[in-house]
Amino acid sequence: MAEEKSFKYVIVGGGVAAGYAAREFSKQGLKPGELAIISREQVPPYERPALSKGYINLESNNKRSIGFSFVLARFLTILFFSWYTDKATLPGFYVCAGSGGEKQFPQWYKENGIELILDTEIVKADLAAKTLVSGTGQVFKYQTLLAATGSSVTRLSDFGVQGADAKNIFYLRELDDADELVTAMDVKKNGKAVVVGGGYIGLELSSALKVNNLEVTMVYPEPWCMPRLFTAGIASFYEGYYANKGINIVKGTVAAGFSTNSNGEVAEVKLKDGRTLKADIVIVGVGARPIISLFKGQVEEEKGGLKTDAFFKTSVPDVYAIGDIATFPMKLYNEMRRVEHVDHARKSAEQAVKAIKAAEEGKSIPEYDYLPYFYSRAFDLSWQFYGDNVGETVMFGDNDPKSPKPKFGSYWIKEGKLIGAFLEGGTPEENKAIAKVARTQPSVESLNVLSKEGLSFATKI
Ligand code: FDA
Ligand code: NAD
Repeated sequence: MAEEKSFKYVIVGGGVAAGYAAREFSKQGLKPGELAIISREQVPPYERPALSKGYINLESNNKRSIGFSFVLARFLTILFFSWYTDKATLPGFYVCAGSGGEKQFPQWYKENGIELILDTEIVKADLAAKTLVSGTGQVFKYQTLLAATGSSVTRLSDFGVQGADAKNIFYLRELDDADELVTAMDVKKNGKAVVVGGGYIGLELSSALKVNNLEVTMVYPEPWCMPRLFTAGIASFYEGYYANKGINIVKGTVAAGFSTNSNGEVAEVKLKDGRTLKADIVIVGVGARPIISLFKGQVEEEKGGLKTDAFFKTSVPDVYAIGDIATFPMKLYNEMRRVEHVDHARKSAEQAVKAIKAAEEGKSIPEYDYLPYFYSRAFDLSWQFYGDNVGETVMFGDNDPKSPKPKFGSYWIKEGKLIGAFLEGGTPEENKAIAKVARTQPSVESLNVLSKEGLSFATKI
């Protein structure tokens, strides 16, 4: 029988939240052997956003135009985020590189007495018995569990799309997926790529494929890209910009099937509207789902995730849920929400560990008070969004996709208050300013005046 191991704290999942939780544990004080991270990945926690950016560049990207914002961006990039724009390799983007912190090499876990149990998938969690079992039958006992299993991709085969398991149809979630994609991009150099999905993966991957000289077509069902965040006005800038870069955009339809060549590789994408697109590579980004099956029937769920309080405690004593899988009280909007973004993965991990450590000392900490923050980078573009995207909208700035230095944004106004702000091409100070307005929610007297004031409405506050 496999050996049983026992830890005070176990983190199941070895992604962003796990890595930041480990750092917080070490900051708060940890004895050797108290904490284990169990991950099915073969590498220590890394900054997952790098996978759709620098990691899939075939070579160092030096095709960018030189300008002031470029120089500034490069300076910041070199400082913290070189994996965003240049060819990124591990260990360059181990956590906590993405927030400017120390890179946690395998040695870091050793030095901090943290056991990294990699290449190990937990297939059973018995929360009443405080026991986890791996695919190979290893048993792990814990006193406190942090569930950090993240999300898995939604597959076209889930919708019964015919031929969706052909070779060279890729999804992107983990390092192995990215490695397979990079190999295919190299083999199919200058080939045709079809990107299915117009969300985060669709937009970031289309840009990466184009930069790597593939001919790219995007296909998505909605009238404009990234409808879960973008307004029609915001989207029209990105669609125009992508079209100017030579990306073909097909909207209002979906991939209904695939045909293959004699090697079983994808050759054509059949669209629902009857058209077909030639393809050497297909990348699918049609959403993600939280991985919570281990906890089904044991932990209370809400909105597709594990329900937590403001300290990421679930309905089961000594079980916490962090990152993508947590549905937590978003204090600012007085609503339970789940967030699938890296900033929350980091912050929820820190909050949970602080709460665990405080409780051990009979103390309490303030409730999680999260301001939603999403961002993306593609080509020379970079946007940030803070707050909530509901209510009326007002656009401002230069959103001409042909402009040499586009800078524009949008505000969301609900019940007379500004509650959300989006900015493309902002400086660090301007981005800070939009974060501040989204947090402070100033009153808006007139949408017309707000539209005229534009970015200065935020920067003057
Ligand atoms: P995460 O997915 O990071 O980690 C989960 C871990 O659990 C994985 O290691 C997984 O293998 C492991 N696991 C799952 N089940 C297991 C089991 N049963 N046993 C053992 N291990 C198990 N966000 C953003 O704000 N800006 C960005 O630019 C990007 N970019 C981006 C690019 C790509 C390609 C992806 C896929 C995602 C992003 N994101 C992003 C989203 C962001 O990366 C995501 O929200 C965080 O990684 C979530 O962190 P978690 O730790 O919750 O899950
Ligand atoms: P998404 O939810 O952003 O986008 C899904 C898109 O799929 C929709 O916009 C729609 O256009 C499309 N779609 C849905 N069904 C379709 C179908 N049948 N055929 C064609 N298109 C269809 O999800 P994603 O882009 O797959 O991203 C996956 C996860 O990774 C999310 O959790 C996301 O937050 C995360 N991610 C985040 C970033 C970032 O924050 N910058 C970057 C990459 C990935």
